Amino acid sequence: MSDAHDDEAFRELLRGLRVPHAGELPVFDPAQAPDAPLPLFRRWLREAAEGGEPGPHTMMLATAGADGRPSLRTVMLHDADAHGWHFGTHRTSRKGRELAEHPYASLGFHWMRSGRQVRIGGRVTEAGPEESAADLRGRSPAALAAALAGAGRQSAVLSAYEDLERAFEDAYERAERDRDASAPTWTLYVLEPDEVEFYQEEARRRHVRLRYRRAPEERGGWRRELLWP
Ligand SMILES: Cc1cc2nc3c(=O)[nH]c(=O)nc-3n(C[C@H](O)[C@H](O)[C@H](O)COP(=O)(O)O)c2cc1C
Repeated sequence: MSDAHDDEAFRELLRGLRVPHAGELPVFDPAQAPDAPLPLFRRWLREAAEGGEPGPHTMMLATAGADGRPSLRTVMLHDADAHGWHFGTHRTSRKGRELAEHPYASLGFHWMRSGRQVRIGGRVTEAGPEESAADLRGRSPAALAAALAGAGRQSAVLSAYEDLERAFEDAYERAERDRDASAPTWTLYVLEPDEVEFYQEEARRRHVRLRYRRAPEERGGWRRELLWP
């Protein structure tokens, strides 16, 4: 139980915190934005990486199963191309099960140093086993080991920590020995966006929001709209 002093000190802490920007915020002119969201996303990600943003390729992934209750976690972006935004995980994990029940998701990036946020929503499809295996082969031995250890188990209740230690020791050893080892539940997913929103913070909080919505009749296949911040 927290007492009133703790409560106040905690609120005080929160009120005193600031989002760390790297100097002046970039100016975003939506009139200069491209017809489609992908080139702009790639540019912002590249600028985040070059601007020293830690882990600019990590993103929040929100899913909801048949019960409609959203759940959220961090995953890595493996690619963003004409097919969509790619990420990898276990089909049998909570998010994998939710995606099987309801194949729609939302992705969120927050690049603090440049005061930028991107939200992407759309339908999610599973890549086939070949493509999923190739995706895993392209990753580091540590990522392969984690995928081997988590195969069929990610998100399940862990009854004893020793089980985890044993599974990882086996997985490290196997990943070293066989770079092509397969983690059967590891799946590459592709989110095909029907909506992508770019948000640029502004020093006086007159933030800029630009939303792209898929519209086949428009030039480039997207409609662009400004939103109130
Ligand atoms: C920086 C970071 C990156 C992560 N990347 C992935 C990833 O690419 N794939 C994955 O399955 N889990 C990744 N995780 C773990 C997930 O956040 C999550 O804990 C796990 O996938 C289980 O999620 P679930 O139970 O909601 O299915 C990452 C965690 C962090 C902190």
